[in-house]
Amino acid sequence: MKIEARSGSQLEYQGPALVVGCCEDDRGQLFAACDTALDGCLARLWTDREFIGKANSTRLIHTLGKLPCERLLLVGLGKRAELDGERLRKAAGNAVAALRAARVASFAWALPEGGPLNALEAVCEGTLLAGYSFDQYKTKNREELFAFESLTALLTPGVDPDGARSRIDGCRALCEGVKLTRDLVSHPGNVVTPGYLAVAARELAERRALACRVLEVEELSKLGMNALLGVGKGSAEKPRLIVLEYRGSGDDTAPVALIGKGVTFDSGGISIKPGAGMQDMKTDMAGAAAVLGTLEAAAQLRLPVNLVGVIPTAENMPGGKALKPGDVITAMSGTTIEITNTDAEGRLILCDALHYALVNFAPSVMIDLATLTGACVVALGHEASGLMGNDQGLADDLKRAGERCGERVWELPLWEEYGETMKSDIADLKNSGSRDGGTIAAAWFLKQFAGTVHWAHLDIAGTAWLEKGRPYLPKGATGVGVRLLIEYLRGESVT
Ligand code: BES
Ligand code: MN
Ligand code: ZN
Repeated sequence: MKIEARSGSQLEYQGPALVVGCCEDDRGQLFAACDTALDGCLARLWTDREFIGKANSTRLIHTLGKLPCERLLLVGLGKRAELDGERLRKAAGNAVAALRAARVASFAWALPEGGPLNALEAVCEGTLLAGYSFDQYKTKNREELFAFESLTALLTPGVDPDGARSRIDGCRALCEGVKLTRDLVSHPGNVVTPGYLAVAARELAERRALACRVLEVEELSKLGMNALLGVGKGSAEKPRLIVLEYRGSGDDTAPVALIGKGVTFDSGGISIKPGAGMQDMKTDMAGAAAVLGTLEAAAQLRLPVNLVGVIPTAENMPGGKALKPGDVITAMSGTTIEITNTDAEGRLILCDALHYALVNFAPSVMIDLATLTGACVVALGHEASGLMGNDQGLADDLKRAGERCGERVWELPLWEEYGETMKSDIADLKNSGSRDGGTIAAAWFLKQFAGTVHWAHLDIAGTAWLEKGRPYLPKGATGVGVRLLIEYLRGESVT
């Protein structure tokens, strides 16, 4: 979708549709001017309560030549005092839904006054995120597929056009990262294999001038990454460790390490999952995809930080060589792990990746993202990602970033007592304990491999994929993590 910013009279816009936001307790001057041009039609909608500015409401009307635009789309913004970035992103998403239903591919948004560049950013972001669709595998009637063409942001007077352009470029970069993540998660598991993720990482590195290394089985064996190798053993697809580096700080500052779970399909292994819903386990690489998307966006935005992405990737299958319950393996750190459930595979591939990041990069911060536990979906549903870690400052930074960008996180405690159920009779640890507090037990396991580095774990099992769409999150892959991490990293680089 093309995006341009334009100043001049919003009322004079000529085109298929003009989007006008409107608060329930403050309709604004543009609404009044449109109402006058339309002979009181808008006031009538209001008195008949057909459109009263409520959040998440829209109303599309034809102007029949009474205004230069062909259609007017009224978008409710709710109460003026509650109008923030998230409200505007949602409004932009709702506008996209209404315009898509009417198959209007080009439109203009009359931006509200006050905080003009932030409003511009929120509207562009909501529009781009909501305009996403994944239809690569639809072969029939492709001419009926709908795609947006252009958004014209109509600035209010006095807004610096250069500032506006650079915000639009930044927004586009961010949303390209989200798109990469969503595409990777949307593709089926027979396409996105560990090998495919490695190729996607190499292409990303090429595109954005990143350093990229892919460790294959032989090297993983030499390094003793038996937890990652163990998970991959039951599959015909070979596991890999993907390592990407972005150097944006201009010096040798210790990097922030981003680690993403890349299980390209999770059958459960020998502890096989029930059939119903198993197809959703193609999304078990959403953490890996979020790391790739974040690097895509960070590099394009030229964020002044050093980043390392570490992606352990494998397919969890019940083949003849698969790990079995009762097996004991030695992870790269030397810790021995008794496998009590082969479906608790995410923590296994992540424990080797955390240790690898720790010893090879001495990072200042490590953040891992993983569709790690069904228990997290039970606890938080689809509204927030689970957050746990060993550093309250880092956790608080992530919470604030989440509030700002709309990718909320909710912290769960990580007290030492939660580790009791993870102790094995035969080895140092076991990979699954009691079902109770399962999200925390999994995080406790990971904590044993984070050393003394500031570390945070994000359980995105409930937020990476939605069965029901949201205003700017179409159903399916959300791309969760990318906007959160970029918002966090932006906060980091101002200090
Ligand atoms: N990938 C799953 C977790 C998951 C569940 C993600 C639902 C998205 C939606 C993970 O590997 C898993 O199977 N976890 C087990 C752990 C258990 C065996 C200790 C779970 O949550 O049941
Ligand atoms: Mn599993
Ligand atoms: Zn899994």
